[in-house]
Amino acid sequence: MKLSKRAELIPASPIRKLADLAVAAEKKGIKIYRLNIGQPDILPPDSFFKFLHKFPKQVIPYSHSRGELNFLNQLKIYIRGFGIKNAGKKNFVATNGGSEAILWSIMAVANPGDEIIVFEPFYTNYNSLAIMAGVKLIPIRTYIENSFHLPKREEIVKKISKKTKAILIANPNNPTGTVYTSKELELLIKICQKHQLFLLSDEAYRYYSYDGHCFISSLKVEEKLIKNDAKSLIILMDSFSKNFSLCGLRLGFVFSRNLEIIQAMYKFAQARLSASGIGQQIIALLLAKDQKFFKQINKTFLSRRNILITELKKIPDISFSMPEGAFYTLIKLPVKDSEKFCRWLLTDFQDKKETIMLTPAAGFYLTPGLGKDEVRVAYVLEEAKLKRAMEILGKALAAYKK
Ligand SMILES: Cc1ncc(COP(=O)(O)O)c(C=O)c1O
Repeated sequence: MKLSKRAELIPASPIRKLADLAVAAEKKGIKIYRLNIGQPDILPPDSFFKFLHKFPKQVIPYSHSRGELNFLNQLKIYIRGFGIKNAGKKNFVATNGGSEAILWSIMAVANPGDEIIVFEPFYTNYNSLAIMAGVKLIPIRTYIENSFHLPKREEIVKKISKKTKAILIANPNNPTGTVYTSKELELLIKICQKHQLFLLSDEAYRYYSYDGHCFISSLKVEEKLIKNDAKSLIILMDSFSKNFSLCGLRLGFVFSRNLEIIQAMYKFAQARLSASGIGQQIIALLLAKDQKFFKQINKTFLSRRNILITELKKIPDISFSMPEGAFYTLIKLPVKDSEKFCRWLLTDFQDKKETIMLTPAAGFYLTPGLGKDEVRVAYVLEEAKLKRAMEILGKALAAYKK
């Protein structure tokens, strides 16, 4: 018996594949600072806990496949708050996290064997989700020296083939922390318009941008360039995992001005029945009451980023770029194989019975060999822990060199 091609091809997530080693280290009494996974340690707003305490004894039904009315209403207000006109309930479908939104978007625009362009390094699960859909990602390289901003038009256009169906971006970016400018977004939209491609815009980190690198939604830029909603080529994929610090709630959504896209998404939604109805009630409540949370979280992460950078500057022989948004940075290390180093951190290294967990970066690239000497750090811990984690990284690199 043989499994499918996609079952053979799908890689283990580099973010999660060292989890067993971490558990084994913890069993030996080692404390681990987890910088591998993008899960903020911040409590969600109080209204979330109040909701749980008051929750009545009741049957938990399926919810509406498109999304509950109250949730869709709040989404409409939320998206209009970003200056996006014409957003109505009909333009959304609720999803189980941003991950489902990404999978559906890929499946809605590309057939098996088709291609989607991504900028490398990219969020590693894009590759796994594309493999699940039978779609090939075509990487275009971006560089640390340029803070991973987009290459010139010619570099992008060169990679478009007859099979290309879309360009997929994360803005703000995981793993690079890059926030694209409105000029860059304009360039992508114009390329998509000319070559009849979709732009899949993942804006899961929309509230994390720093130092005047203002996040701007691709939709806002598109409104200036394409007036007719039916011709819109953008699918927005979004999530409340990071913005409300509710990764485990599993709630997100897709939005498009183009209703043909949303009709297809709605049928995908019917096939998987519904997103979490309780989750939707919670997010609707938080969107109505707790949008101030977004400002607080941005401030907290700006300060964490600054601490991270200050501490990284003390470590010799590494390089990194200043993250403009999200809560990640890629670090080039003086090691040949960063996966070996990440494993060693968990199996053979400790400083006062403590170590760190990082993500080896090769999985954020498709071009063979790239990222082999890089790791991704998610600066999701409070400041004192972050400082200690960077102290451990410095000591570990010195010990590894020996
Ligand atoms: C860029 C990006 N998009 C989407 C997701 C998926 O988020 P979720 O499925 O938790 O909403 C993540 C998770 O880390 C991410 O980094």
